[in-house]
Formats: sequence, C-alpha cells, structure tokens
Amino acid sequence: MSTSAADLAGRSPCEVSPDAPDDGNGGLRFVVVYGSVRSQRQGIRAARFIVRQLESRGHHVDLIDPLEIDLPLLDRAYSSYANGEAPEPLERLAALYRQADAFVFVSGEYNHSPPPALKNLIDHFLHEYFWRPAGIVTYSAGSFGGVRAAVHLRAVLGEVGLVTVPSMFPVPRVSAAFEEDGTVKDEAYEKRIAKFLGELCWYARALKAARAEGVPYE
Ligand SMILES: Cc1cc2nc3c(=O)[nH]c(=O)nc-3n(C[C@H](O)[C@H](O)[C@H](O)COP(=O)(O)O)c2cc1C
Repeated sequence: MSTSAADLAGRSPCEVSPDAPDDGNGGLRFVVVYGSVRSQRQGIRAARFIVRQLESRGHHVDLIDPLEIDLPLLDRAYSSYANGEAPEPLERLAALYRQADAFVFVSGEYNHSPPPALKNLIDHFLHEYFWRPAGIVTYSAGSFGGVRAAVHLRAVLGEVGLVTVPSMFPVPRVSAAFEEDGTVKDEAYEKRIAKFLGELCWYARALKAARAEGVPYE
C-alpha cells in the first residue's frame, strides 16, 4: 500500500490533526461492540484497548458492553417495532448506530465461534449497519487469538450489511497483552494496531463520503 498523507505529516495512520477542518476529515464516530458477559471475562481488556487507541487518535467512541445493556435473548429485532416504540436500550443503540462511521467488533472464541451475547447484540439490528465498515478484533486465552471465531464473524457481519475490512486483529493470550483498563503490557500491539486502524479509518472516511452522496436503498 502507498504511503498515506497522515504518514507524511508525521502522524500515525488514523490520527486526527488537532487543526483538522470540520469537513469530514476530522474525528470519526466509532462503535466498539464487545461480546462477553462472563463474570471472569478477560476480553474487556481488548475492547478497552481499542477504545483507548481510537480516542487517543482524536475519534469519538461508544463502547457497547452487553453486561451493561442487558438485552434479553432475541425476541423481537429492532426493525419489528413501529417507529419510536422499541424498548429504550434498542432505541438508544439504534440512534448510536445510525450516527456511526465505523464499527469494531471485539470477539472471544467459544467453541470456534463468537460468544452468544455478541451474536445476540448483532442480530437485534440490521438496516442501522448498512453502508458502514467494520473491523474484527478477536482474542483468546490460548495462542490462536480467536481466528476461528473471526472467520464466522466475518460471515455474520457481511450478512447484516457491514463491509468488513481486509485485515483482522487477533490477540492471543489476551490477559498478558493488556491490563484490565486496556493499557498495553506488550508494546508490539501499539505498532500492530496502527496499521489495522489506519485501514479501518480509510474505509470509514471513504464510505462516509459515499453515504453523503446517497445510498442505493435504506
Ligand atoms: C464456552 C467457552 C468455549 C471456549 N472455546 C474456546 C475455543 O474454541 N478456542 C479458544 O481458543 N478458546 C476457547 N475458550 C477460552 C477463551 O479463549 C477464554 O476463556 C477467553 O478469555 C474468553 O473470553 P471472555 O473472557 O471475554 O469471555 C472458550 C471459553 C469458553 C467459556
């Protein structure tokens, strides 16, 4: 890939210049969706790492944590409610998703698949994802970094209309990689994440500009 304008300016890819004009080249809106509700969950470290990395580059980030949202197992998807009549958490998420420029899904690997709470969150929505890019971050306790779940997740995200970016971000031994608050223990992740986010930001800006021109259907 060729050198980006951000590289040339001495900033890391995806970083927003403090004097960026408000013309679509400034900070983007990201939704980071995390998928474990286990009492001993470890992946929240990876989700917080992503939030920190995006915020430190000047972007707005909302972290969706299924433990806080506490959705029931899917009964009625958001689209099955009349306008404005869905339960409050669904209305709140839908509003956030409509404003989003890009999503990041942070998934563990349960039996080679994404965790049930993540799939449940994803399935509650559809149109709100359309014409937007998504990055896939996976992790595991062992050495494979959740890559088998990532393959499943890419298929699911494509089905709900998201455009998944080519690179993925697998994290093996997640508790050795990040502290509980998402700060890095292993500095190699700082370099790896810059490339991944550079790619995601490129797609986020490209699709944001394209959405502004209009979409084929809602
Ligand atoms: C039900 C279940 C199934 C799991 N299956 C896998 C697996 O297929 N591959 C793997 O690498 N780790 C597997 N693990 C271990 C997880 O990688 C590890 O527990 C991880 O911390 C789970 O994410 P969480 O802590 O955010 O819930 C499994 C864990 C659970 C609870």
